[in-house]
Amino acid sequence: MTLSEQPISTAKGKDAIREASVTTPRSSVFELSVIIPTYNESKNIPELLRRIARVVVEKDIPCEVIVVDDNSPDGTAEAAKNVEIPIVVRVIKRTGERGLSQSVVDGLRIAQGMYVLVMDADLQHPPESIPNLLAAVRTGADFVIGSRYVSGGRTNDFSFYRKLNSRVATLLTLPLVGRNALDPMAGFFCLRRDLIDTSPLNPIGYKIGLELLVKCSPQNVVEVPIRFSSRGAGESKLNLAEQLNYLRHLRRLYDWRWPNLSQIGMFCAVGTSGMIVDLTLMTLLMYVGMAFPLARIASIAVAMVSNFFLNRWMTFLRARQGDWSRQLPKFVAACSLGLVINWSISNALWILIPSLRWAYQLFCVVGIITGTASNYILSKYVVFGKKKAQAAHE
Ligand code: GDD
Ligand code: MN
Repeated sequence: MTLSEQPISTAKGKDAIREASVTTPRSSVFELSVIIPTYNESKNIPELLRRIARVVVEKDIPCEVIVVDDNSPDGTAEAAKNVEIPIVVRVIKRTGERGLSQSVVDGLRIAQGMYVLVMDADLQHPPESIPNLLAAVRTGADFVIGSRYVSGGRTNDFSFYRKLNSRVATLLTLPLVGRNALDPMAGFFCLRRDLIDTSPLNPIGYKIGLELLVKCSPQNVVEVPIRFSSRGAGESKLNLAEQLNYLRHLRRLYDWRWPNLSQIGMFCAVGTSGMIVDLTLMTLLMYVGMAFPLARIASIAVAMVSNFFLNRWMTFLRARQGDWSRQLPKFVAACSLGLVINWSISNALWILIPSLRWAYQLFCVVGIITGTASNYILSKYVVFGKKKAQAAHE
């Protein structure tokens, strides 16, 4: 990864810097650093910078703008440098791996303001709201979100699918941020710079605000309503790959917050998916007339294989370094105890409580839960466990 800072761009070179210090006489240091990650925003960045300049000059806010561009092929960096405005604009060009969050982290590392504010370049975040966000941190908030979901906030032009997506994604953050923030996914936020320690920051994908909310543990989170506008020119880069990245990012944040619990939680989530596989197949096999004991074996076995791959991918993260074809037989062997427990208990209930046979799925669930506990312990320590020598090196 190469990082290069382009010469500071201002309207009229040195004159403009002087002009900026005239309009911002309170301090030689910036009060605010506005960080804008960009990728292919050459059509939007000039208008955005002009609107930011207008509002910070009018409100007398000593401000630097840092545009962090991932070497956009459409010439965004150059477009940013060429805008004539009376405030300091620093343009960072990153070459190498692309990434919104990582770009913001790079911007945070070089920011000089007492407060930092992050916003999108595509005009969805109105720069006219900057003074409102700043007012909140000035009066003691640790972290301020330009929020769509507090009263007065708006989202324009969001499709039903995008809205649902956003709500579900927000719900998944609930254990991490609690009711502290209604819009933790927002890309428009402002916080005190001294609250940020960039070293533990390790975001993937889009949700840098969420990363900061979790890792900087701000006490006093305030949400300021904003009108989330429609995008200016160009298109959103939030695609399916980014949504999968979001799940990986969430997993990391849960791991960071609750190193052990998160693994058990994931194992149970995988177990739940296995239960759905098991019950669906079971219902299907009973429907086509297979005998109960046989149907149990078949559906447990299929669920076991699907659990193996999901656990290997999501629960025991280091397991991916091992050879799956060796791990699978171990997993099957270890889980066969769980299978015996599961099978025996559900069959015992089938025999002992004939009056409840119409709800035989209940017998299966009790079997599954008891089997799962033994599966987790064996998987963690035997199948995907680290060897002692290897663990010592980590
Ligand atoms: N440097 C850099 N590198 N910037 C990027 C990259 C990248 O790989 N991908 C996108 N950006 C920039 C865009 O140019 C824009 O300024 C900003 O990041 C947001 O990108 P969009 O592609 O417009 O995102 P969005 O509108 O779908 O998502 C926004 O709203 C979400 C809430 O609904 C973002 O603000 C998200 O962070 C936010 O969660
Ligand atoms: Mn956008």
